[in-house]
Amino acid sequence: MSLEGKHVLVTAGPTHEPIDPVRVIANRSSGRQGFAIAAAAAEAGARVTLIAGPVSLQTPTGVERIDVETAQQMADAVAAALPADVAVMVAAVADWRVEPSTTKLKKSEGPPQLKFAPNPDILADLASSPDRPQLVVGFAAETESVVENAIAKQVAKGADWIVANDVSGDVMGGAHNRVHLVTRDGVEHWPEMTKDDVARRLIERVSKELR
Ligand code: CTP
Repeated sequence: MSLEGKHVLVTAGPTHEPIDPVRVIANRSSGRQGFAIAAAAAEAGARVTLIAGPVSLQTPTGVERIDVETAQQMADAVAAALPADVAVMVAAVADWRVEPSTTKLKKSEGPPQLKFAPNPDILADLASSPDRPQLVVGFAAETESVVENAIAKQVAKGADWIVANDVSGDVMGGAHNRVHLVTRDGVEHWPEMTKDDVARRLIERVSKELR
């Protein structure tokens, strides 16, 4: 078991940012890629903490799952789960939140003027924290200049690796993925494969890196 004795932290799924007691701002992330990575890490013998936004997926065998809704809750859950040896941040975190109305917004009052405030960048904060895991892996969902944007994100966020995800097709919600792995040594172009196979291959690379 290649990740025996290691603690792997994974974030997955979307976040939901409430605007009133019944409405949220969400995104189309299914959580499938993150859940597959958590499963693969557990299969490799790691202790796995999976911090999941709202998704309808079963918890993989041997994985400790913590459910959250908002980006702030996800950030708090990540901080509480440390220390970890590896962090793989797959969640599609909302970049902004609004101050939610405590009462339901009424149509009769006209279109609401939503005022946005920035959410914490969980990946960037983790990468610069004193508790930084040995290996910090981010994902980059891009529709154009996929590798260039991923390299820019690697630098901006202080991640060791970025898995660059071409989401110009039907990746979000689908079972397949085409990714490029950006490490500090260069870029690996992986062929299209299932999200389960991306997960297993990524976890193999992680094990090799920690050896
Ligand atoms: N991420 C995060 N916290 C945020 C936003 C993003 O941890 N508030 C992480 C994601 O989990 C992912 C990586 O950062 O690992 C890239 O997310 P992405 O949304 O592609 O990047 P952004 O910084 O939001 O850039 P943009 O939306 O402008 O492409």
